[in-house]
Amino acid sequence: MTKIIAPSVLASDFANLQSEIEMLNQSDAEWIHIDVMDGVFVPNISFGMPVIQAIKKHAKKTMDVHLMIVNPDQYISTFKKVGADILTVHYEACTHLHRTLQAIKAEGMKAGVALNPHTPISVLEDVIRDIDLVCLMSVNPGFGGQSFIENTYKKVIQLKHLIEQSSSEAKIEIDGGVTDKNAHKLVTAGADVLVAGSFVFKANNPIETIKKLKALANS
Ligand code: DX5
Ligand code: ZN
Repeated sequence: MTKIIAPSVLASDFANLQSEIEMLNQSDAEWIHIDVMDGVFVPNISFGMPVIQAIKKHAKKTMDVHLMIVNPDQYISTFKKVGADILTVHYEACTHLHRTLQAIKAEGMKAGVALNPHTPISVLEDVIRDIDLVCLMSVNPGFGGQSFIENTYKKVIQLKHLIEQSSSEAKIEIDGGVTDKNAHKLVTAGADVLVAGSFVFKANNPIETIKKLKALANS
């Protein structure tokens, strides 16, 4: 299966959001990764519904929304309305994760679960068949531009094993510090989707950079 590149708009130029999204439409990226931070679950605030709606107006790619917020349940239908195709919640923010996943699917979205770097894969054993996407955080969530945590490779291998053993169809997404230095090794370990913020948007030629990442991921 072709590996997917999901540029994170957190690193884009917000004053020129329309042209950034049009650039992604022209690129080899299949998904657009959208980071929502509430200043409570993570020590940073990014953007919310009006900005997602503005992105949706121009985006021709899958809207992959990553919620770094407490109480995600209360906004599930709103995120659907503003354009999310995939909605990912944090394991650490959900007391009733199984119920949250069902609610996301009931709205017609794909359901994702993100794990912080300290959270072991084993916590997903009893819900893995209910998950469409597992987002492994390879940095501590809250900021773009951080360095990749090497322990992630081990977690990708463990997660791939769990998915295969359970006949789950979940995809594995890696989020944080992805570059041309780790892309190939990550997909070799079992990753399906690579999120890249700074590496794409701070490059001189983002379209070429996405192409290069995609080639590395599929080599
Ligand atoms: C971190 C976010 C990431 C971030 C990735 O909290 O979830 O999606 O935007 O940015 P880079 O690729 O710069 O680490
Ligand atoms: Zn993210």
